[in-house]
Amino acid sequence: MPIGLFDTTTPMLALQDEIRDRVAAVLERGVYILGPELEAFEREFAEYLGVRHTIGVGNGTDAITIGLRALGVRPGDEVVVPSFTFYASAEAIVNAGGRPVFCDVDPDTRNVTPDTVQAVLTPRTKAVISVDLFGLPAPSPALRELGLPVLEDAAQAAGASLDGRRAGSLADLATFSFYPSKNLGCFGDGGAIVTDDDRIAELARALRFHGSRDKQTFEYVGYNSRLDEIQAAILRVMLPELDGWCDGRRAAARAYSETGIDRYVMPPFEPVGAEAAWHLYVATHPRADELIAGLRDHGVGARAYYRTPLHRQAAMAPFAPVASDALPVTEELARTNLALPMGPTLDDECVREVVAALAAISG
Ligand SMILES: Cc1ncc(COP(=O)(O)O)c(C=O)c1O
Repeated sequence: MPIGLFDTTTPMLALQDEIRDRVAAVLERGVYILGPELEAFEREFAEYLGVRHTIGVGNGTDAITIGLRALGVRPGDEVVVPSFTFYASAEAIVNAGGRPVFCDVDPDTRNVTPDTVQAVLTPRTKAVISVDLFGLPAPSPALRELGLPVLEDAAQAAGASLDGRRAGSLADLATFSFYPSKNLGCFGDGGAIVTDDDRIAELARALRFHGSRDKQTFEYVGYNSRLDEIQAAILRVMLPELDGWCDGRRAAARAYSETGIDRYVMPPFEPVGAEAAWHLYVATHPRADELIAGLRDHGVGARAYYRTPLHRQAAMAPFAPVASDALPVTEELARTNLALPMGPTLDDECVREVVAALAAISG
């Protein structure tokens, strides 16, 4: 049996009937945008995270764009962002009017640190984006001590925690994506901004509706970006399952360790105090592409992430660092990473098969 990189179907099977009922209820009500399902989801997600406000938006990219605007980023402001992340983390800065300034990451956690951020700060730096990469929370509380607003891009980290606090509650503002393959994924596009700050929340809420607070008068040039009622209803069914799904992912990560995966690749690292959400299980190997091809021949889903880091993407050329060797850890991780199968229902037998395939390829 082939083993896919993700399995977004199996965890859903037990929820199908309830989801059908909840979607049918939305259709009967006939309210599709900014209605009671979104209001309830916003309350429930805020409670889950332990924050005061959730603002549902159209996707995780809009969440970052609107979030940066709500944090006060203005045209020309610099925003520090890792280069080893999904493109949206930097694209959103440009769409908010800012200039991405790329920083390096820690080789073990693959996340930004106060040192990697500090290395690129200038008097024009307005904010920092800390990405919880692959589901491991970045040290956002330590970054806040640098004295700049921090936006936690928690798109990959729903269900993770750091020192007992949930990912999404670690910075001035955090953003989520509910893209279907995410740990908490809906049946289309969806996203959220979360914050404890009443003023930032109010501004974000206005910006997601064309910059208006009352739908009659328009204070800002904003966006048309809302999490719709059908997606909110689906997410309300899924949210109570999130912790159980993360436990399943953690069990799979433990199984990889116990099956001796470190004989074949360098496995991912989880620092003391962090509980990763294991959105992806990303190892490294000097010949990662060969292993990926070999695993695929054995019916095992594997792929590289961010092989071309953001500072070397064509659209980011105006923002690339001048020195070509400015981000050595990023370059190395981009070249050597490989993601292996991971999911809430990936059982020990599948993990053993993945490791056996790696053993066969490694000869
Ligand atoms: C780290 C990161 N940030 C932002 C996004 C953007 O989310 P979306 O696809 O919902 O716009 C994603 C996911 O796609 C992501 O992985």
